Amino acid sequence: RTIALVTGGYTGESEVSLKSAEFVYQQLDKSAYDIYTIVITVDSWFHVADNGVKYVVNRDDFSLPIDGRVVRFDAAFIMLHGSPGEDGRLQGYFDMVGLPYTSCDALTSALTMNKAYTKAVLAGIPDLYLANSVQLFDSQRAEAAELVRQALSLPYFVKPNAGGSSIGMTKVKTADELPAAIEKAFSAENTGKQVIVEEFVEGREFSVGVYRRAAGLFVLPATEVITTREFFDFEAKYMPGQTEEITPAALTTEQRNRVELLVKAIYTRLNCKGMVRVDFFLERHTDNFYFIEINTVPGQTAQSFIPQQVRAAGMTETAFYGELIESALT
Ligand code: DAL
Ligand code: MG
Repeated sequence: RTIALVTGGYTGESEVSLKSAEFVYQQLDKSAYDIYTIVITVDSWFHVADNGVKYVVNRDDFSLPIDGRVVRFDAAFIMLHGSPGEDGRLQGYFDMVGLPYTSCDALTSALTMNKAYTKAVLAGIPDLYLANSVQLFDSQRAEAAELVRQALSLPYFVKPNAGGSSIGMTKVKTADELPAAIEKAFSAENTGKQVIVEEFVEGREFSVGVYRRAAGLFVLPATEVITTREFFDFEAKYMPGQTEEITPAALTTEQRNRVELLVKAIYTRLNCKGMVRVDFFLERHTDNFYFIEINTVPGQTAQSFIPQQVRAAGMTETAFYGELIESALT
């Protein structure tokens, strides 16, 4: 089987994508798969051969001409966080050229990249709590801070509505910090010019991976994130030593069962495919799980959660990534 490991991207998460793809490449079984890493940037879609020569993808059919021969792929393993690999653009393109891929389809990818719309679709799932929030559009920029003050109580989390890895995000504790935080989130590149402001939920933070196996949905062991920083920001995510991550998380059996049901209900409601990762707060006083967001191309760097969860489940990354490719192919 010939696999395109697709990485890079148009946003501030592209560096993370490259690290994720490198990790996946190292783990994939080379005797089962012939793997070509394809880097997608705004300017070019290309593969760099071992000898350093750069080959450009033919976008008519996503084939790869290499010195007179043409490499044709059986599937794409999408390891590109943010646009265009996690927001449905590449998914739509792969549908058009007829190439199977490992992630959610175009509709689910586009929907879940938008945090506010995702919450609207998830409303009503039993036992799933959603923090009060306001979705702000570019056209509302002038009155944005006032709209937030009227609707929500402090403290706030202010985020680009279509961002990732906490880029452009601020925790706001006093009202006077709000306008600058909103401007920062609006100015974050390539995020669709929308901002989401949410009420802060006090409690513990968890992240749970899930994927579809032949036998049904399989929920991976949860990870608890404990950071010494103000919140789990970009530095905490990718600089070693900034956070403690506990996998499997110390949850009671009841909490674990509850979060597993929530993860399955979310996966089903959003019509997900392949592996996704759902992040939650467990509110301190009520013991309710609050949905933070879903990642349809979850990070696979050496610091990321899914690899830890896969190992905690007693699997190898090699077997897990192989399963993802096989299910994309069927
Ligand atoms: N958006 C980052 C890559 C994650 O969810 O892991
Ligand atoms: Mg994310």
